[in-house]
Amino acid sequence: MKKESTTISMSDEYGKYASVQRQWANAVALLISSHKATFANLCSSSPKLTILDLGCADGENAIPVLTQLLEAVRPCNPTCKFEIHLDDTLDESVKRAVDRVKGGLSAYTGVEVSGVAKSFYAPVFEAEGVDVAYSVASTHWLSHVPAKHPLCMYVSAEGYRDPVWEDAAQKDIMTFLESRAKELRKGGRLLISTVGLHDKPTEQEEISIQFYKGFRGAIEDALKVTGLEKHIDAVGTFPIYVGHESRMKEIYSKSPWFDLVSFEMIVIDYVPGLTFKTQADGNMEICKGYTKGWTYGFLKSGLECAGVPGEKVQEFLSNLYDVQVPKCYRTLSGQGSGVHTKISAYVLHLVRK
Ligand SMILES: C[S@@+](CC[C@H](N)C(=O)[O-])C[C@H]1O[C@@H](n2cnc3c(N)ncnc32)[C@H](O)[C@@H]1O
Repeated sequence: MKKESTTISMSDEYGKYASVQRQWANAVALLISSHKATFANLCSSSPKLTILDLGCADGENAIPVLTQLLEAVRPCNPTCKFEIHLDDTLDESVKRAVDRVKGGLSAYTGVEVSGVAKSFYAPVFEAEGVDVAYSVASTHWLSHVPAKHPLCMYVSAEGYRDPVWEDAAQKDIMTFLESRAKELRKGGRLLISTVGLHDKPTEQEEISIQFYKGFRGAIEDALKVTGLEKHIDAVGTFPIYVGHESRMKEIYSKSPWFDLVSFEMIVIDYVPGLTFKTQADGNMEICKGYTKGWTYGFLKSGLECAGVPGEKVQEFLSNLYDVQVPKCYRTLSGQGSGVHTKISAYVLHLVRK
């Protein structure tokens, strides 16, 4: 039977290369450290603090966030225990994360770490059991590629406002929030940081948007050459949605379960470049990357064979940036190339009503 979609997981090398995600994680850590009293209070009338990480990957970037939480609470409540639950979609990645986080927090006593392999588009923890839930660099992954669409990624750049993707993103965000609303106790906190776009794009964002347009154009050309239907099953499920700040803020503040305490846009360095490895079962693993390059290794061999996307994108980038773009490299499942740029992100703080 043909595979309709592909699952992507992060390899155990992920943390080494995920410097951009680390900056998002650091933004959450900073938020915690600048509201220490708020987080310490969560544990004031209870002997333990229950924490949930949503989309933990290999756990490496969870460590600075968790360290800040522990540091915020411990001085006020030295006997407080910490129950940490790490969630991601795949068992093996969650197991790795548990080991890594245990190691990273070994200097602290009273810490228990466990894993849960479930999609965060449903509750992953028992009702009202959580004090703090956070998600770093994960909520831009939608639950599915909306519609039978060849493009596995959506950036709401001018000219690419696609109502199908926008609707899907809105529904997913609401589902995410409703699920957290069930898990978090009243007054519990939800912290999110992930990729976004300023309403009035910065110069670097303009470049990024141009890049994405070029990328999409190249894919569309490739699809014309190869035929959409024939290759739809060769396109990995990598359903990333990058929305504008006002849209994001509107969606989050519309939620009936949470009050939006703060919404901040930040700009961070972005020097990524993903490569993908197709595993024996047909799933893809992000095996290496975030070195030099940009993220367009999404297409599996069916499209790559046509020889179109890599070259086109490379040509596009060379013209756009007036720089020598490294030669596109090929992996079994994708192609990459790159330019160093900056990327925006939003950092959200919500409180359970
Ligand atoms: C870019 S990584 C970020 C990981 C980590 N939080 C960090 O900051 O490095 C995104 C992670 O979200 C996970 N993810 C995506 N969709 C998910 C879902 N529906 N439920 C749980 N995890 C999900 C992916 O498997 C991946 O490990």
